[in-house]
Amino acid sequence: MLDTANLRILIPANEISDRVLALGARITADYHADGRVPHLICVLKGGCMFLSDLMRAVNLPVTIDFIAVSSYGSETTSSGEVRLTKDLDQSLDGRDVLFVEDIVDTGLTLSYLTDTFRRRGARSVKIAALLSKPARRQIEVPIDYVGFEIPDEFVVGYGLDHAERYRNLPFIGVVENPTAV
Ligand code: IMP
Repeated sequence: MLDTANLRILIPANEISDRVLALGARITADYHADGRVPHLICVLKGGCMFLSDLMRAVNLPVTIDFIAVSSYGSETTSSGEVRLTKDLDQSLDGRDVLFVEDIVDTGLTLSYLTDTFRRRGARSVKIAALLSKPARRQIEVPIDYVGFEIPDEFVVGYGLDHAERYRNLPFIGVVENPTAV
């Protein structure tokens, strides 16, 4: 069984689903008002659960694609290095890109991605992040749709991992003692 004894629940599943529905409604209203349709780009692997819930909460004919960047591995602090490990399948020409990311921590990943993909001809680039840790920011990135601002603690669940585990938890939890996991 999945051992959750060392986890403290920070955001319960019902609060996540309420917030994701609200974000989906805002995205629907904003893009509809502009006569646009968002092209959702999920940042793997952490964004997978957020994407699957968010896309069902957006009432527009969205398209999706996936990208993967190097992540923490088994560490709990950022190396600052960003590497593209899986590129997009589709062209971004003229598209209204909405990045769907699990968490913005230092901001390095999203700053790299938005710079790179603006140069690939996207008409607009926005960011939706389930979580944001403002205290850890090294580069300012404008997050257009943010689920929750959280303190500087290492969190897992709802797509987020520690050493590739805990992604399947339906809630966001804090690992009380990451080195002992
Ligand atoms: P950034 O480039 O520092 O903003 O980091 C973004 C990436 O780091 C996220 O997409 C996550 O994969 C990972 N990350 C940052 N904070 C956490 C955390 O508390 N738990 C799990 N992964 C995290």
